[in-house]
Amino acid sequence: MRFGLQVLNHGIDDGLIAEVMAVAREFFRLPAEEKAKLYSDDPTRKIRLSTSFNVRKETVHNWRDYLRLHCHPLDQFVPDWPSNPPDFKETISSYCREVRALGFRLYAAISESLGLEASYMEQTLGEQEQHMAVNFYPPCPEPELTYGLPAHTDPNALTILLMDQDVAGLQVLHAGRWVAVNPRPGALVVNIGDQLQALSNGQYRSVWHRAVVNSDRERLSVASFLCPCSGVVLGPARKLVTDETPAVYRSYTYDEYYKKFWSRNLDQEHCLELFRT
Ligand code: OGA
Ligand code: NI
Repeated sequence: MRFGLQVLNHGIDDGLIAEVMAVAREFFRLPAEEKAKLYSDDPTRKIRLSTSFNVRKETVHNWRDYLRLHCHPLDQFVPDWPSNPPDFKETISSYCREVRALGFRLYAAISESLGLEASYMEQTLGEQEQHMAVNFYPPCPEPELTYGLPAHTDPNALTILLMDQDVAGLQVLHAGRWVAVNPRPGALVVNIGDQLQALSNGQYRSVWHRAVVNSDRERLSVASFLCPCSGVVLGPARKLVTDETPAVYRSYTYDEYYKKFWSRNLDQEHCLELFRT
């Protein structure tokens, strides 16, 4: 099973979604001096504005700026979020709450589809962290020479992506071909991440995806990542390991995985391959 699905009827209000996009766009329109205060290329920072993907590791950069925020528990992180635009904190907090609840509903459906207890994923993944990447892709004079984000899978468990309704750019790998995802009004994209691939013993696959840029229009996306806490032990669900379907992955902590992920560059071998049995 591969995901890279657009979901409608997700229960998140269209008005809230429009406000999130508006406030995100306004943030990137702030003067460079104001945004510069938030700049950091240290992936362990809980709030940072950065560029490309991992500027410390890569030799070729991508055409992307991004604001990365930790979002759970909200009361711990919101005070450090930008207070400009003035409604940033409130709008983004409301959206974070909704997206978390949606993610947990998806965990229940995914668990049941695997023949596990509905609570399996939520219980196994524990009190999860939630991170957000607000991605801004400016128009690029030579879009064929770069990416917004090159091909990757997300290292976390589940990603819910809110995309620009007007400008396409996301592509997913499907049957060996890159397929453009045309944004549907009001839809959210759900991407399975590496941890659900491991927990499902490979029955769900994390989706390979990338973002392309274009020469005349900026594009915005807001990715919400549900991530296990660092000490959580991950690996195939016991019930899914049988004589016919032996464990594909060893057990490891999320801390180990995440450190490995950020110590590499996106164009290297799939990080999950390093955790095979
Ligand atoms: C991401 C991502 C895709 C996009 O932030 O991990 O894949 O369309 N974003 O911005
Ligand atoms: Ni991604």
